Amino acid sequence: PVLILLGPPGAGKGTQARMLANHFELVQLSTGDMLRAAVAAGTEAGQKARAVMEAGDLVSDAIVTAILRERLAEPDCRAGVILDGFPRTGAQAEALDALLARAGQPVAAAISLDVDDASMVERITGRFACATCGEGYHERYKKPLQSGICDTCGGTDMTRRADDTAETVTSRLAAYHAQTAPLIAHYAGRGVLRRVDAMAEIDTVANELTAIAERAL
Ligand code: AP5
Ligand code: ZN
Repeated sequence: PVLILLGPPGAGKGTQARMLANHFELVQLSTGDMLRAAVAAGTEAGQKARAVMEAGDLVSDAIVTAILRERLAEPDCRAGVILDGFPRTGAQAEALDALLARAGQPVAAAISLDVDDASMVERITGRFACATCGEGYHERYKKPLQSGICDTCGGTDMTRRADDTAETVTSRLAAYHAQTAPLIAHYAGRGVLRRVDAMAEIDTVANELTAIAERAL
C-alpha cells in the first residue's frame, strides 16, 4: 500500500512520515531528500536541480519522476511506502498512478496536512536536523533534550538546509498553491483524501495520522 502526505513546505510531512514509517514498517520516500542527495553527490540530475531548489521553485517533472521511479522499483519498497513531497504537480500524480497500476499497489490514503501560510516561515526558519541520522528538530517546537546533541543517535553535528530562508519560503509556498494544492481535488475525486489539522502539536498530529493509517492500511 501507498500513503501520500500532501501539504505545504513546513507542514510537517518529513516529521510525520518518519514516525509513520517506523510505526507501520513502511519505507519513507522523500523526493526532497533524494534530490538533496543527488545535489551532494554531484550527479547530472543534482547539478540541474541545485539552483532550482535554492530558488524555491519545483524541479522538473522529468527529473523528479525518474528519481522516484528508480527508487520505487527497489525490493524494499514492495511492502509499502509513504510518499513525502511527491506528487507535487498534476503530471507527477498521473505518472504515479501509472507506476502504481503497473506495480499493483493501491493508494491507501492521500493525507493533506492543513496549516496556515503565516506559520510556515517560523517552522522553516527554525528547523535543523541531525547530520548523522537525519532526525529533524525545531528551535522552539522540537528541541533536543540536551542542546546540540541528537536524541536519537547522540550525534553532535546539526545542519540547516540551504533553502530554509525567509525569502525562499515565499516562492515555495507560491509553488505549493499554484501546482500542488490542486492535487487535493485529484485524490478527493478518488475517495482516498483525508485531511488533518497540522496546526496542532506534533504528537496530536501524529496520533491522528496513526488512526487514519490504521484504518486505511
Ligand atoms: P522538500 O524537501 O520536499 O521540502 P518542502 O516540501 O518544502 O517541505 P519541508 O521539508 O520544508 O517541510 P515538511 O513538511 O517536511 O516539514 P518538517 O516535518 O520538516 O522539497 C525541497 C525542494 O526540493 C522543493 O522546494 C523543490 O525544489 C524540490 N522538490 C522536492 N520534491 C519535489 C517534487 N516532487 N517535484 C518538484 N520538486 C521537488 O517540519 C518543519 C519544521 O517544523 C521542523 O523543524 C519540525 O520540527 C517543525 N514541526 C513539524 N510539525 C510541527 C507541528 N505540528 N508543530 C510545530 N512544529 C512542527
Ligand atoms: Zn541523530
